[in-house]
Amino acid sequence: MRVLVVGSGGREHALCWALAASPLLDALFCAPGNAGIAEQAACVGIAADDIPGLVAFARAERIGLVVVGPEGPLVAGLVDALQAEGIKAFGPTAAAARLEGSKGFTKDLAARAGIPTAAYGRFADAAAARAYVAAHGAPIVVKADGLAAGKGVTVAATVAEANAAIDAALGGRFGAAGASLVIEAVLAGEEASFFALVDGRHALPLATAQDHKRACDGDQGANTGGMGAYSPAPSVTPALAGQVMDRIIEPTVAAMAAAGTPFKGILYAGLMIGADGPKLLEYNVRFGDPECQVLMPRLMSDLLPALIATCDGELKRFSLRWYDDPALCVVMAARGYPDAYQKGSEIRGLAALGGIPGVTVFHAGTAREGERLIATGGRVLGVTATAPTLAEARLRAYRAVDCIDWPGGFCRRDIGARALA
Ligand code: AMP
Ligand code: GLY
Repeated sequence: MRVLVVGSGGREHALCWALAASPLLDALFCAPGNAGIAEQAACVGIAADDIPGLVAFARAERIGLVVVGPEGPLVAGLVDALQAEGIKAFGPTAAAARLEGSKGFTKDLAARAGIPTAAYGRFADAAAARAYVAAHGAPIVVKADGLAAGKGVTVAATVAEANAAIDAALGGRFGAAGASLVIEAVLAGEEASFFALVDGRHALPLATAQDHKRACDGDQGANTGGMGAYSPAPSVTPALAGQVMDRIIEPTVAAMAAAGTPFKGILYAGLMIGADGPKLLEYNVRFGDPECQVLMPRLMSDLLPALIATCDGELKRFSLRWYDDPALCVVMAARGYPDAYQKGSEIRGLAALGGIPGVTVFHAGTAREGERLIATGGRVLGVTATAPTLAEARLRAYRAVDCIDWPGGFCRRDIGARALA
């Protein structure tokens, strides 16, 4: 099969790395890809949001499966456009991608289906939003409805802070994404993530994985896309995973199918685990990044047939096998990330990593300038290691990090600490 992966991050590198090992693969392309992906796939210079360009390429190259990495093109209808041309595509249609594209849509669905989640209201009007905050008091959570690059949520400690978040969002800080709001109660507990393949009717949970969202050690500092991850996540016990499937994932899949917008692809639930069990914070409709970088090295089964079975509605009789060995990924980012950061610094030393067992470096924002490897993004490398124990995987990953000569970069030194504690 000829496969096209869409995206250019560490997640897409991990997907290409796993797909490249499939005996069913005839050719692998990635649009637009990065310097690391170029080692597994032919990179083509088409942006991930160029829907007509991607459809034309897939048609011309007789692509049998398109695997869409990021949420933007999913919400914008890339899968619909490919399917209209008869091209198989992994990921939800635009209607199903509303689970990530509109927080209000997801809250209403959860309310209708009896899925546990925080009490909430939806607002497009500042006076009504402020009145809701005044009635409920602080702390309270204010969320832009649409895609806001992870910056649309304010957990407000005071009413004044909540009102400021309302004014900022409705005043245009997030563009159209902030034109309406969800305001909801603060939930207490431990956060956890949960991933499942969904074929429209059936859900197949993946191995567990957890990221670290904050920029600095000790889970301090600004929120980021994710500074590292580990798998398995000990906090998601088999009993908890069963509750998440029964109370959250399965009812969501059923509600989407009943509405005539069946969900196919990866459903990634952000959860709060409280005293009364798991509650839904949000959905993403794609693999997590960097969670994907720790899931793929642990996947023993061939990824390609799993993605095809998802597209074809055949997950019911499907199972996946995983290696027992844990995996841990340390993200190296450009100094300054997630705020303004420098581009163009050189990265050296990757060739020396071959000597450390179990280490794979997934690239995100990298490019080649001649022989030189150059940092071009905020998150740049995902240094990933597997080992018989999580502690050993962490040692290996940081040993590799310490071999990389990149003065322009930084990483957290405590990835996995919560799982090891
Ligand atoms: P979301 O994008 O909706 O997952 O929100 C981003 C982050 O905000 C989450 O990962 C939580 O840390 C926090 N958050 C969101 N909603 C709530 C809530 N209802 N209670 C407490 N924290 C929340
Ligand atoms: N690591 C968080 C995300 O992919 O959204």
